[in-house]
Amino acid sequence: MTAPAPATVPASAVKPPDEARSRDVVLRFSTQRCIHARFCVLGEPEVFLANTPGAWLHPEQATAERIASIAAQCPSGAITYERLDGGPDEAAPAVNVVRIRENGPLAFVATLKIGNGMEAAGGGSPFRATLCRCGASQNKPFCDGSHTAAGFVASGEPATRESQPLAQRGGVLEVAPQRNGPLQVTGPLELCAGTGRTIDRVEQTWLCRCGQSGNKPYCDGSHARAGFSADGA
Ligand code: SF4
Ligand code: FES
Repeated sequence: MTAPAPATVPASAVKPPDEARSRDVVLRFSTQRCIHARFCVLGEPEVFLANTPGAWLHPEQATAERIASIAAQCPSGAITYERLDGGPDEAAPAVNVVRIRENGPLAFVATLKIGNGMEAAGGGSPFRATLCRCGASQNKPFCDGSHTAAGFVASGEPATRESQPLAQRGGVLEVAPQRNGPLQVTGPLELCAGTGRTIDRVEQTWLCRCGQSGNKPYCDGSHARAGFSADGA
């Protein structure tokens, strides 16, 4: 299909993350990137004190390894860390993956380049991001949890397509939100269903982000008929 022009960086990309440090690690949390999947507060309730007054990040309550492990489970990239104990910081993944979340966003784990430098927007991880596919987020191209209130219904188990193993599975993945159109994705990428099944392996694709495609997760051109507006993002 013909790719429309890439979108520009939204003004919302600049709020600094919350931060707390222990002797071993700096822990950061980006409100703008969080989609409230709650791996943090359920996995380390002593570190992440949700819904309490005062300081809510307590990295001193866990080892730096444990903080790194919780961050790796955070799909949105809202949790990031910096090791002060000589341990390794978050590394680029060996395999670029996008997981299709049932009734929810596209969850990428990849060496991301999003738009014109949005991959670390809001202080989030450049290796993990949940991107809107319902069309309702107020923080496009990122998911902000609006799919729930919007009643978005979309399978997390799309049909498997025939595909070949990729010669290279990692490396830079460019995600270019097209103006009022899909996400143009360029680079090695494995698409996975919620159950972990590989549904496709591509080096370029266009993923629906208007919520209207009849062929999700791919764009089928419905955004034009639906009059989808991404407000420049
Ligand atoms: S998205 Fe990340 S930071 Fe937000 S609730 Fe889930 S695990 Fe915690
Ligand atoms: S973005 Fe093209 S059909 Fe949804």
